[in-house]
Amino acid sequence: MERGLFITFEGIDNCGKSVMSRRLAEELRGMGYDVILTRQPGGTALGQQLRQVLLHPDADGLDERAEALVFAADRAYHVKKLVRPALEQGIIVICDRYGDSLVAYQGGGRGMDKAFLRRLNAFATDDLVPDLTYYLAIDHATSAARQEGGCDFIESESAAFFQRVIDTFEALAAEQPQRFCRIDATQPMESVYAQVKAAALERLAAR
Ligand code: TMP
Repeated sequence: MERGLFITFEGIDNCGKSVMSRRLAEELRGMGYDVILTRQPGGTALGQQLRQVLLHPDADGLDERAEALVFAADRAYHVKKLVRPALEQGIIVICDRYGDSLVAYQGGGRGMDKAFLRRLNAFATDDLVPDLTYYLAIDHATSAARQEGGCDFIESESAAFFQRVIDTFEALAAEQPQRFCRIDATQPMESVYAQVKAAALERLAAR
């Protein structure tokens, strides 16, 4: 059986990735594909608990190494339990955030060693790399303007933190143009979605 396609969405908070990933999943299902839409952290029952530990507004702040390891633990379990088995059954898996978030947030944002974080991702996922990664690019001012309600633990970080996260996402996207589809997500939603859809259909056709 042909392996499924592994698609991830990345970007800073409020870039629109949750809406875009939902629309893409619906569109592909409408075309007859089997699709699982999931996310990190949180795509499993354990992941939901880890999400609370990591992001609850009252989280008292894990040490940065502990934080990186818990994000990686969520990723390891999620890949083993859900993502890899689905891909092996030929299912398209769309994941809202994946390993690039570790490099961007813990590496760029928190200043941890990015080469180590890449190795941690490889270890956690047994080298599972997405076939296609959307980077929905917005600036921090746009993210802050779109924020509704309170901030979770990481959303309350400074503008300087988010600029480092953005710079790291940009560097990752520039370094791996064959995997990344970078979209200016300050454009109107319909235009962003048209680009999301076109890139997915192109990858599917190329298989
Ligand atoms: P979400 O609300 O978009 O799911 O975001 C979860 C938050 O966790 C977001 O602020 C980014 C952060 N995060 C990391 O810092 N490292 C990671 O590896 C992942 C997956 C998310």
